[in-house]
Amino acid sequence: MEERIAQLLDSVIVPGAGRSVLQLGLLRSIDQVDGQVRIVLGDAALIDDAKQSIEESIRMAVSSITGQDILVQFAHMTTGEANDIAHTVAVMSGKGGVGKSLVTGLLAVALGRAGYRVGILDADLTGPSIPRMFGIQERPCGSSSGMLPVVSATGKPVMSMNLLLERSDQPVIWRGPLIDKALRQFGQDVLWGRLDFLLIDLPPGTADAVLTVMQAFPIDGVVVVFTPQDLVEMIVRKTINMAEMMQKRVIGVVENMSYLYIPETGKRMELFGPGRGDEMAQVANAPLLGRIPIDPSLAALCDQGAVEDYDSDIVTTLGRNFLAALGDGSRREKHLPV
Ligand SMILES: Nc1ncnc2c1ncn2[C@@H]1O[C@H](COP(=O)(O)OP(=O)(O)OP(=O)(O)O)[C@@H](O)[C@H]1O
Ligand SMILES: [Mg+2]
Repeated sequence: MEERIAQLLDSVIVPGAGRSVLQLGLLRSIDQVDGQVRIVLGDAALIDDAKQSIEESIRMAVSSITGQDILVQFAHMTTGEANDIAHTVAVMSGKGGVGKSLVTGLLAVALGRAGYRVGILDADLTGPSIPRMFGIQERPCGSSSGMLPVVSATGKPVMSMNLLLERSDQPVIWRGPLIDKALRQFGQDVLWGRLDFLLIDLPPGTADAVLTVMQAFPIDGVVVVFTPQDLVEMIVRKTINMAEMMQKRVIGVVENMSYLYIPETGKRMELFGPGRGDEMAQVANAPLLGRIPIDPSLAALCDQGAVEDYDSDIVTTLGRNFLAALGDGSRREKHLPV
């Protein structure tokens, strides 16, 4: 009985979160007391209206399988207690504009298609492009005990400073300590629930904000993005040194804008000369996870907020290589519905 109820709870969606109480890690216990079914949920990031609506949905769902009275209780729970994230991976680059956000987005799409639960944290407070790429505009809901990410079209939770601003074109001009505080708060107060992967889109370079994220999150490893241009070796080395300094493993490297792909003809043009992916993989002592072409159709999808619609072998390969690089040792079971 308890198991069937737990399964039903996976259909009870938390208002504003687009995910179920189960996926959000809020289920504490189900038991039977005095002929009643008692369901205890954690209250992390839930406002009173949300609790009421959850209670009603649970009553409706559970009454379909039992004639017993149903008691729904909320107990104190922090976001930290609810969160269960198998892997946290940061995407970095030594330089801006090389496609870090794009690679974060594509990796999330790839892992999502492979059946993993993926969340994305946009930690680039100054120029957040993840919400735009995923077509997300809603403001996150939350209570004093935490914030709920907004879900993408295919159900990926996304959190970004951009979503908390009054207007998305408002620049974030903050001094270091405030950025530091905001990032640490993102680390503590976001209800991600049960995820296989949390991908973090870092700001460019080796600035303070990157250090903060590296310290504030339990990062398993980093993916380094570069383009095949001049000075790439120096930039990649700098990035890798930083990861090493922070004792973070480089899971792999991705060469973006490797060549130009012309959709109409299917032809490739090596704009910056032959790729340097293998060379950079050696520098990083980590595998090359993918070579991503400049693809106008990809840029158009990103502009339309539809990166999740990108259909290309590039995505499949990126995901497969990433999972292989992560290795069996660190891979945990996929989260099952219960
Ligand atoms: N392979 C690609 N094909 C087409 N467009 C691309 C490609 N890679 C990146 N772009 C486009 O180039 C721009 C910069 O990419 P992106 O925002 O991912 O870079 P970034 O490294 O995250 O930049 P920043 O340092 O500002 O955070 C975006 O408009 C993106 O859509
Ligand atoms: Mg970016």
